[in-house]
Amino acid sequence: MQNLSLKDFADTGLLSAGTSTSATTLHLIESTEFASFHDSLSTSDQQWLKRQAFTGKSGQVAWLENGDGVIGAASEDSLATLGGLPYTLPEGVYRLSATTSFIALLGWGLGSYSFDRYKAASREPAQLILPDGSDAAELVNTVAATYLTRDLINTPAQDMAPSHLQAEVEALGAAFKANVRTVIGDELLDLECGAIHAVGRAADDPPRLMDLTWGNADDPKVTIVGKGVTFDSGGLNLKPAGGMRLMKKDMGGAAIALGLGYLIMAQNLPIRLRVLIPAAENAISGNAFRPGDVLHTHKGLTVEIDNTDAEGRLLLCDALSIATSEKPELIVDYATLTGAARGAVGAEIAAMFCNDDGLAQDLTQIGKTEDDTVWAMPLHDDYAYMLKSNVADLVNSAASPYAGAVTAALFLKRFIDDIPWVHFDVMAFNIRKRPGRPEGGEAMALRTIYRHLDRQYGAKGD
Ligand code: BES
Ligand code: MN
Ligand code: ZN
Repeated sequence: MQNLSLKDFADTGLLSAGTSTSATTLHLIESTEFASFHDSLSTSDQQWLKRQAFTGKSGQVAWLENGDGVIGAASEDSLATLGGLPYTLPEGVYRLSATTSFIALLGWGLGSYSFDRYKAASREPAQLILPDGSDAAELVNTVAATYLTRDLINTPAQDMAPSHLQAEVEALGAAFKANVRTVIGDELLDLECGAIHAVGRAADDPPRLMDLTWGNADDPKVTIVGKGVTFDSGGLNLKPAGGMRLMKKDMGGAAIALGLGYLIMAQNLPIRLRVLIPAAENAISGNAFRPGDVLHTHKGLTVEIDNTDAEGRLLLCDALSIATSEKPELIVDYATLTGAARGAVGAEIAAMFCNDDGLAQDLTQIGKTEDDTVWAMPLHDDYAYMLKSNVADLVNSAASPYAGAVTAALFLKRFIDDIPWVHFDVMAFNIRKRPGRPEGGEAMALRTIYRHLDRQYGAKGD
């Protein structure tokens, strides 16, 4: 079994500030600065820019007579500022004429990604020597964390079954001397995780729960949970072809949780981290769980299955119940949970449900500055009636066609006590290419939570 290698500096499109190779200089010009920059140029350079139709618009690239590049930029820095350059500039090494923001530099790193496990990359990304004084460690760790998440999601289900995901958690744990424990197959029943077991038992590769812990036992406890459905066929409530096509990404929540775990450990945040990854393939065979079945969950609640395609909340409910019993300071979960969340906020915004309004507001603000948009959705308790069952404590899926992302979140909330909790219902996949965001797997709402944790608990005196 092959592990996805944890990336190092050389693979991120970024070079350390001290790198002494010759490099092409790039002038980053905001549209408001363009007039004065233009005035400062020689007449022949001015004509040179004109011939290249350079008007200073964001995303434009042009060349001066001496070989320097000029890059148009929006006034607000984002991943888009430099994120398109790694694959539009010719291969080679570049440096910036002036220092720039963390988020812009991050865009270069994130825009340098390619997924080349099954086909050779068509070219190398252009490389950027980081300006002096930039936080190289945090940049490279953030890029590597995101690449890990993307690689995990982009890898097809044939090579990313529950056992592969287990191997990835173990490799991550080994890299940071974390403790990893996995409960597999029928042993999930001994742990009272009847829901994880039911979702995954029909697949050849048995379901499992990975439990990674790291850090000082006395530090504040933060637990991250990620939905690890390695392929979602829908189960007996089989998805139609179109709905199934992208379902290799249904472990996107797990991939984001692992990427975030990587970043926290690589940055050595002073927290006691726990990452819980319930993993299963939602497949069909003679022992598949069925509509009408009643599952026994870790919390002791019984759940009547209305729809086998509402499987993500079943994995999460057992993992969240285990997370809750330890009473951490914060639980964060990531899941590609509902199509309804995508209907509500689209593919590019993370739908956020939080039982602490102040925290939700803080995260919304952080999301803006991190260019990692999250949007608060209502945990509207009055809709809990939709989860009533005649034969069990609750159903897994509401019959109502309305508020599907809300009822999914309310289902999860039944398994959480009063612990501060954030639930992200994410796409985990870019369905279109944007600068710094290639098409394919994506680490949504990862940087937002990292920045929050860094602010809340960070700076171990460094
Ligand atoms: N993994 C899907 C949700 C999904 C679909 C996320 C497409 C992103 C894009 C999830 O397991 C699912 O099938 N949800 C159902 C729930 C329904 C049966 C209550 C859905 O959203 O249709
Ligand atoms: Mn499903
Ligand atoms: Zn699913």
